[in-house]
Amino acid sequence: MPDTAFDLVIAANRLPVDRVSHPDGSVEWRRSPGGLVTAMESVMPGREGAWVGWTGQPGDSADAPFEHDGVYLRPVHLTDEEVSEYYEGFSNDTLWPIYHDVIVPATFHRTWWTAYETVNRRFADAVCGVAAPGALVWVHDYQLQLVPAMVRERRPDVRIGWFDHIPFPPVELFAQLPWRKRIIEGLLGADFLGFQRVADARNFVRAARQLGGWTTRGDTVTVADAEGVEHRTVRAAAVPISVDARGLAELAETPEVKARAAEIRESLGNPTTLLLGVDRLDYTKGIRHRLKAYEELLVEGRVKPPEVTFVQVATPSRERVNAYAQLRSEVEGTVGRINGEYSVLGAPAVHYLHHSYPREEMAALFLAADVMLVTPLRDGMNLVAKEYVVCRTDLGGALVLSEFTGAYHELHQAFVCNPHDIEGLKQAIMHAIEMPEAQKRRVMRSLRRRVMEHDVQRWAARFLANLTGEL
Ligand code: ADP
Ligand code: G6P
Repeated sequence: MPDTAFDLVIAANRLPVDRVSHPDGSVEWRRSPGGLVTAMESVMPGREGAWVGWTGQPGDSADAPFEHDGVYLRPVHLTDEEVSEYYEGFSNDTLWPIYHDVIVPATFHRTWWTAYETVNRRFADAVCGVAAPGALVWVHDYQLQLVPAMVRERRPDVRIGWFDHIPFPPVELFAQLPWRKRIIEGLLGADFLGFQRVADARNFVRAARQLGGWTTRGDTVTVADAEGVEHRTVRAAAVPISVDARGLAELAETPEVKARAAEIRESLGNPTTLLLGVDRLDYTKGIRHRLKAYEELLVEGRVKPPEVTFVQVATPSRERVNAYAQLRSEVEGTVGRINGEYSVLGAPAVHYLHHSYPREEMAALFLAADVMLVTPLRDGMNLVAKEYVVCRTDLGGALVLSEFTGAYHELHQAFVCNPHDIEGLKQAIMHAIEMPEAQKRRVMRSLRRRVMEHDVQRWAARFLANLTGEL
């Protein structure tokens, strides 16, 4: 299929589906992991756009474009070396830690930066190949921060937006990056930059002023042309992402999902309290802190299986990056220790599931859980928190939410915690378990109202209105 011209072009590191090759040579396409895909997957169908992205597998040339849910997918290839240097290296071992408060140290390699530039150029070329004259180009996330300027260079006719799904770091941390000015220049190729929180947008504007010397005013940065004549402004503003609230709420209301939720509880021995955690296995998610708090509650006898049990779903992620491999072995060691100590026959203290599940199963898990534990040390938004509350059409359940998530800024009526404060985290969990039902329902009602009104469709519309200058 030859590339054709589209009025809306998405560029994200991943396509919405991952290529999975089986030993018999057959190929299967599976939904890609993470919040970015969850969100965009709900806003793209029906928009007649193109999506430029990687298939999740190394290869020396790109797969042919194909259609998926009415969207034209234009694969970009990454060689083995690029997967290791651009994706695992620069994106996830340099930028990811810097953008998440350096929870683990960042690694700097000049060869990784070179690979990042090369791959960003390949994405930009692919975008230029599918964008119609005057198209809207919507670039996503930290993996593609050079793409806006690279596209503008070749295609001054298109309008370019970039959305940051993760936090944008304070200038003191961003300053550590040897390539900081090049990244700011890359982003300033856009017309509009969207962030999860006001603080993230401000961090960017401050970095442009202090590290690059650009003129800034409020939420805008003024960009000069090659002759130094100031000729363009770029706006940086908060447009917090959300979930497909109506779609999920409807799914949670189906008899199949309700029956499955009851079945899950039954298979766990109908506990009085089911605690649930659902995360990519990432050190930003505070899984270790959560387990520590739970273990201490067990030690102190404040919770006890089989009456209380904890299900932790931890999807494998970025497994060849050291910090992730280390996290996995620590988490699995801790789960093993807790279970050895506190499980009773037929009733483990922790059920640890290292799998991906279909949407229906996720909705059933949310519906089954009495307390949802969302305890990141830093998270751009955290869609799981929003998914949980919209699935609770019954107004049941309770959300324990870290104040270091973007979601906290919209859902501060939740059982808020600072995950570094283990004592405080334990109290938040106990409070969520013990609060009288009627009071919990009131909390849940107000959390749901917020997310139902600010859903992913509204987020996409707001982003695009900002991009086209209507807002
Ligand atoms: P991140 O983007 O950092 O992974 P988010 O919470 O924002 O974190 O988004 C995660 C998305 O992935 C959510 O839509 C969540 O439902 C989904 N998800 C997480 N774990 C699983 C799993 N084991 N199976 C299927 N979907 C999952
Ligand atoms: C987060 C990032 C996304 C990323 C996702 C999954 O949501 O913001 O850009 O796609 O995690 O991570 P992965 O490295 O598997 O793409």
